[in-house]
Amino acid sequence: MRRLFVLTGAGVSAESGLGTFRDPGGIWAKFDPMKLATPEAFAADPDRVHAFYNLRRRNLLSAAPNAAHGALASLATGLAARGGGLFLCTQNIDDLHERAGSAQVHHMHGELLRSRCLGCGARAPCRDELKTATACGACGRAGRLRPDVVWFGEMPLGLEAIETALAEADLFVAIGTSGSVYPAAGFVETARGFGIRTCEINLAPSDNAAMFDECRCGPAGEAVPAFVAEMLDGR
Ligand code: OAD
Repeated sequence: MRRLFVLTGAGVSAESGLGTFRDPGGIWAKFDPMKLATPEAFAADPDRVHAFYNLRRRNLLSAAPNAAHGALASLATGLAARGGGLFLCTQNIDDLHERAGSAQVHHMHGELLRSRCLGCGARAPCRDELKTATACGACGRAGRLRPDVVWFGEMPLGLEAIETALAEADLFVAIGTSGSVYPAAGFVETARGFGIRTCEINLAPSDNAAMFDECRCGPAGEAVPAFVAEMLDGR
């Protein structure tokens, strides 16, 4: 029986055509996060923030999951069939894990295809453009909807559930993340504190690579299916 904690980052969706943030030419090389991904930026210029997330939502709706997402969905069912389990935690706001068949995904940075009303707190599915004039379906007020994502300066979602899942795991795997945004970047240290083995899968060793027991280099679309096959073989 095996219990795995898998943390994914933008690299797992790179081969689906969704940009990463910090690679050369990445999203934060083209756009200033302080003007687009903070509560202050939204308060100062909601139209600019909506335009950025509307573009990302359009890109997401025309993207498809890749082999890495598919392999992680098989990992969950394969481990469950063997009496183990997978806690799949993603920093990504896309829904590609779900579209590949993962039934349970912990979106610690929220979800692009959902909106949240700053007036009444209602969360709702959101596949269309959000505008300042868009009215909340629950309270009817306009000008209060925002993407249901976590911005810089805000608390990631479900940190207690994450800590519990890390404590229960026997292997921590970080896939396609640069390890530069906390608290996610610190999960490897937490895992080590719990005495869990740690593995990184990335195109190239991340800034955090020295913290891991094992590093596997390669594109997620190849390296993740190979890793999953190993995990499920002979167990
Ligand atoms: P980054 O852009 O910081 O890192 C992406 C990582 O993926 C890098 O280490 C790349 O080497 C790796 N990578 C790129 N292509 C890959 C591929 N095909 N296969 C495997 N790995 C590949 O993205 P994150 O670490 O996810 O938060 O960023 C963390 C957070 O910073 C995001 O959730 C977002 C961002 O600002 C917020 O917006 C709050």
